[in-house]
Amino acid sequence: MTLQTTPDRPRIDAREKVLGRALYAADIALDGLLHAITVPATIAKGRVTAIDTALAIAEPGVVRVYTHEDFADDIAVTPATLGGNQPGLQPMTDTMIRFRGQPVALVVAETLEAACEAARLVRVSYRVEPFTATMDELGSEAEPYEITAEVGDAHAALQAAEVTVDAVYAQAQNHHNPLELISTTAYWGAGKLTILEGTQNTSAIKFGTAGALGFAPSTVDAISPYVGGAFGQKTVLQLQSALVSRAAVLLGRPVKLVMPRAQLFHTAAYRPRSNHRIQLGASRDGRLVATIYESDQQNARYDHFYGTSHNEMVSHLYGIANWLGRERLIRVDTSPPGYMRAPHEHPASFAFESAIDELAYLLEMDPVVLRLVNDTDRDPITGKPYSSRTLARCLERGAELFGWNRRNPAPRTMTAEDGTLIGWGVAAGAYKGSMCPAIARLRIQANGVTRLFITGHEMGQGMRSAIAAELMEVLPVNLDKLDIQMGDTRAAAQHLTAGSWGTGSAVPATRAVAEKMKAALTELVGELREGDDVHRKLMSTKRPMLEVEIEQLGLDQTQAALDRMRQGAPATAGPIYDELVAFSWIAHFVEVRVDPTTMRVRVPRVVSVADCGRVMNRRTATSQVQGGVVWGIGAALQEAAEVDPRYGFIQNNDLADYVVPVNADIGDITVELLDIPDLQLNASGVKGVGEVAMVGASAAVANAVFHATGKRIRHLPIRIEDLL
Ligand code: MOS
Repeated sequence: MTLQTTPDRPRIDAREKVLGRALYAADIALDGLLHAITVPATIAKGRVTAIDTALAIAEPGVVRVYTHEDFADDIAVTPATLGGNQPGLQPMTDTMIRFRGQPVALVVAETLEAACEAARLVRVSYRVEPFTATMDELGSEAEPYEITAEVGDAHAALQAAEVTVDAVYAQAQNHHNPLELISTTAYWGAGKLTILEGTQNTSAIKFGTAGALGFAPSTVDAISPYVGGAFGQKTVLQLQSALVSRAAVLLGRPVKLVMPRAQLFHTAAYRPRSNHRIQLGASRDGRLVATIYESDQQNARYDHFYGTSHNEMVSHLYGIANWLGRERLIRVDTSPPGYMRAPHEHPASFAFESAIDELAYLLEMDPVVLRLVNDTDRDPITGKPYSSRTLARCLERGAELFGWNRRNPAPRTMTAEDGTLIGWGVAAGAYKGSMCPAIARLRIQANGVTRLFITGHEMGQGMRSAIAAELMEVLPVNLDKLDIQMGDTRAAAQHLTAGSWGTGSAVPATRAVAEKMKAALTELVGELREGDDVHRKLMSTKRPMLEVEIEQLGLDQTQAALDRMRQGAPATAGPIYDELVAFSWIAHFVEVRVDPTTMRVRVPRVVSVADCGRVMNRRTATSQVQGGVVWGIGAALQEAAEVDPRYGFIQNNDLADYVVPVNADIGDITVELLDIPDLQLNASGVKGVGEVAMVGASAAVANAVFHATGKRIRHLPIRIEDLL
């Protein structure tokens, strides 16, 4: 069997998307649709004492105004579980206000305009309580440290080390701003509740809403045909999901709510603030002997968001024999943080890969060489081999493409003719190689139509294109009439599509179901030859269609994982498996140009070399890496929520003030993908790329800023005022 790399090829849904025919959940037109909007709390902590809805209800076109009095006995609060179905709280089931912006009322009207106007007229009275908006303030609550990684004796090794680094790095609060806002549309009919929601976890919507409303899960379906940016924000029920569904059931009409962007900052998942103290010990010749990694992460007072740890990725990056990782949560009165692209790996890589750069300067050693010296073929934490270890190749190839050997290592020595300071920085990254169970049902019809019903969500990353490529490789069908149904609980049980495991789970499942179909067809019509039209072959048997189904377990998984997925629960494996440890790898090389007077930082050029296993589609994978680098540049130089500690309010809650990179901020991003199938992880050799793309990118920018200016900035974002 030879696996092919799909060359630069348009995504199969490109035409539909460009023509506006690819319908996102909130685009789907429904007869009799009602529009809903929530009323956000204007205090950060306390209780609702009264809600006067009279004026709002009097507004023409308003159908209902719901408050906690309507929903308290009507929407169950099911226990929040990590990565499970529920957000940390279900609003409008009691009078408690836990954060500014928490929904306190839901207005439903015939038009969006009427709903918005009426929402403005809802009068809410509160009893205000003291609160703490950020982890810097008195009243924040630090939990005890938890040890998340421990190997050898890091304290002793650090004590004995010839060279040490000890520094604290800070990550700002960052917010997702997907083009597709979060939304829920729900309707009730023929004994079924149907929910249209842009989500990466339709099963969570199905089972979570069923649990909240007290329905049998079999009576709820959730559909998420396309998602316009998910990246972790859309992993669980949103605060509005159950509210909108309940309203639709009570009113007997479809109800749609699209969360306005300003509210999104207060109600949807975001990357919380975190501080990272890194202590490194090394020998004079650059061998790392010890790390102590301690991190603090801001969290909501009541929330469940732990996620994976900061240590998980960085502890597997180099061969460091003594490692101690400790982490804790700092609780404040804020909205629930959550997953955001490379949730812990991005801030951890900024901290750790900055510290590595600092060590390189202390040792007077090239930072690429320092990383190569500490390469390893055994995972230091578990002692197991890696399924593939290509970090050195990423670094070496990146250095070559970038022209790294022309770098003068001393800070402030490389300048352009006009005096502009030039800085070159490097950083490395990794992201876990995970897998989920998947179900795939393939139906081939004599009339040329092929339907594939499969586990996984198309979130813009190009999963349908990757699936189609794999299907065509095993069993060429009529591509023009291929319909891939995913992100739909009616099509197949759905996993949470996150953690960069989507393509690596769906592509092998596609291979398996295509091979099963090939065998079934062969049984009917004899050996298939290259160029055979499978639809004609089927027609020759006088059958209108043929259907086969497979269930796939990820590496080391048992049937129990599949059962969990069928119940809408998380069911992921990796990166630590019985026999191996699996990661995707990346190295980023960044050039910054800094104006010596204004200290404005520009990023004209980035080279990123990644190993994501076999490349399923060069165009979509390259695009994912470029997107990840853009996020890295945004986090490094621009993005931060400005929380007003007096009100607990995010002041820059729109795209005018929450600054993200625009085209003019981004120069050339050259991406090379090693394209080495990782056949130990799955039969298709595919690993994730969506998140590894961002890991290390911000560190490479910060390291380049140091090289350009001689200023080591240990917090993100790095702004002009830090460099003056
Ligand atoms: Mo991702 S942050 O695991 O959706």
